[in-house]
This record gives sequence, structure tokens and C-alpha cells, in this order.
Amino acid sequence: MEREIKIGIIGYGNMGQAMAKGLVEKSGFPAENILACAGHFEKLKENAAKLGIGAVQTAKEVAEKSDWIILAVKPYQLESVIIPIQDILKSKLVISVAAGYHFEKYEGMLLPGTHYICTVPNTPISVGEGILVCEEKHSLSDKEWDCFTDVFGKIALIETVGTEKLSIAGTISGCAPAFTAMYLEALADAGVKYGLTRGAAYRLAAKMVCGTGKMYLEEGKHPGEMKDAVCSPGGTTIRGVAALEKTGMRGSIIAAIEAIEG
Ligand SMILES: NC(=O)c1ccc[n+]([C@@H]2O[C@H](COP(=O)([O-])OP(=O)(O)OC[C@H]3O[C@@H](n4cnc5c(N)ncnc54)[C@H](OP(=O)(O)O)[C@@H]3O)[C@@H](O)[C@H]2O)c1
Repeated sequence: MEREIKIGIIGYGNMGQAMAKGLVEKSGFPAENILACAGHFEKLKENAAKLGIGAVQTAKEVAEKSDWIILAVKPYQLESVIIPIQDILKSKLVISVAAGYHFEKYEGMLLPGTHYICTVPNTPISVGEGILVCEEKHSLSDKEWDCFTDVFGKIALIETVGTEKLSIAGTISGCAPAFTAMYLEALADAGVKYGLTRGAAYRLAAKMVCGTGKMYLEEGKHPGEMKDAVCSPGGTTIRGVAALEKTGMRGSIIAAIEAIEG
């Protein structure tokens, strides 16, 4: 069933490409079953060729030839892209990835009866380690939801939240990769300061972040417990923890989220 689904991507930029890459390279979804359109056709053809997916000229063509349609244009472009193809979308499964959009916001744009869901993915979906925050309120049938979670569950953690929590969930999963990249850069700078090569420092820092996250997900250990397990009494790690607290590490991270959420 899953292998017969045709996925159309309207807007093949950062997120459209990240989702296609994850599907093709990490879940084995057939590239020939994915089709995309974008603003500039020549650039699209080059990007589509990297994965072997199809490239077409218009959103109408994508919608007509696909079963599931991912809306991956910038939020301000959504209305002008959707309205002309509303009638085609009515018989499809529509997946929104637009930041700031929720179920009710589409009510004027999509025709009544359209099956759709609002999600917020993050870019690690391209390497099969993504998060797909999904709004609890959607109009997919139970069978469609099961199939949707089967397909995207292979490349992302599916986390369902109420409408009012979409923003904060999307901020933590979608914006914090930038903070984490800054943390990796800082750790690697420190490693280089103490003589590691840049490559080795980045590899160590990156794998440490992956491993720590995986320990939480697989073992369910409280983050405080994981920290305590690494800090022996009178040892060196606790000195680092104390230094981070002096500069207010936790406060800075919470403040960064507050700056986004307002
Ligand atoms: N990037 C993220 O980390 C992230 C995270 C969560 C959600 N999102 C959501 O993902 C969506 C896309 O964001 P992005 O970062 O991928 O933006 P982007 O890189 O600017 O990509 C936008 C794409 O839309 C295409 N496009 C422009 N006009 C179009 C039209 N009339 N018809 C069809 N395609 C058109 C662009 O083509 P050209 O480049 O050829 O003009 C480009 O391929 C947004 O709604 C955003 O909120 C992004």
C-alpha cells in the first residue's frame, strides 16, 4: 500500500528537500513516487535529479498526479498557491508543514471535506532522525492516519499535540537545531583550543549529542540523572557543570525560547 502512494511536494526548498531526502534515502520510499514543483524550474530540476524524484512545472500538475500533497512553500505564499487548486486537493490527503498554520487557519483556503493535517517538521528528517509535530485536530480518516504515521514514522518521531501547543513544540524541535549547532560549534572550538583537530572535535561533539538524546529516548532516564551519572564527587565534570551554571546556561536557553515564543 505504502509503496503505491504518490507524494507530491509543492515547494522544493529546504524543508521539501529534507522530507524527500529522508523518505528516499532513509526509509526506502521509491523516488519515482515523489513529484515536486517550485518557483524556478531549472533549479528544481537540478535539485530533483539529486534524489531521482520527478519535477513538474505547476502545483496543479503535482496535485493531479499525487495522492498526498505536502504544502512546503513559505507561509505567505500558501493562499495564492492553494486557492487555484482547492478542488483537486479536496480528493487528496494534504499535509501542511507551514510554521504558524493550524487546522482552523486552512478552513477558508481548503474546501470543506478536504482531508488535511497540520504538521511542523524539523530538518533532521533528512537523515531519518527528524521530529514531525502533528496537530491533534485533523481530518484524516483512521486508515489515512495509520498510513501517514507508518510512512513518516520511519524518518521522524511523530509527536501529536493540541493546537495551542503547536507553536512551542515546533519551536523546540524546529528552532533548537540552530542552538544545538551553536553548542556543537562551541564544544569543537574548545576541543581545538586544547589541540584536537577541527574534524575530530566536531565528530566527538556531534556523536555525544546524538548518544545523549538516544539514551533519554531508549532508557527514559531523567536528564538530571544522566548528568549526575557523569559527575563523580569532587571530580572534573562537576566543575564544568558549576562553570556553566555561573554563566546561566539553563536561563539562557529558556530565554532563547521566550524570545521566539514571546
Ligand atoms: N526550514 C525549516 O527548518 C522549516 C521548519 C519547519 C517548517 N518549515 C516550513 O516549511 C515551509 C517551507 O520553508 P523552507 O524553509 O523550505 O522555504 P524555502 O527554502 O524558501 O522553500 C520554498 C520553496 O517554495 C518554492 N516556491 C516559491 N513559489 C512557489 C510557487 N508559486 N509554487 C510552488 N513552489 C513555490 C520555492 O521555489 P524557488 O526557490 O525556486 O523560488 C522553494 O522551493 C514553510 O512553510 C516553513 O514554515 C520550515
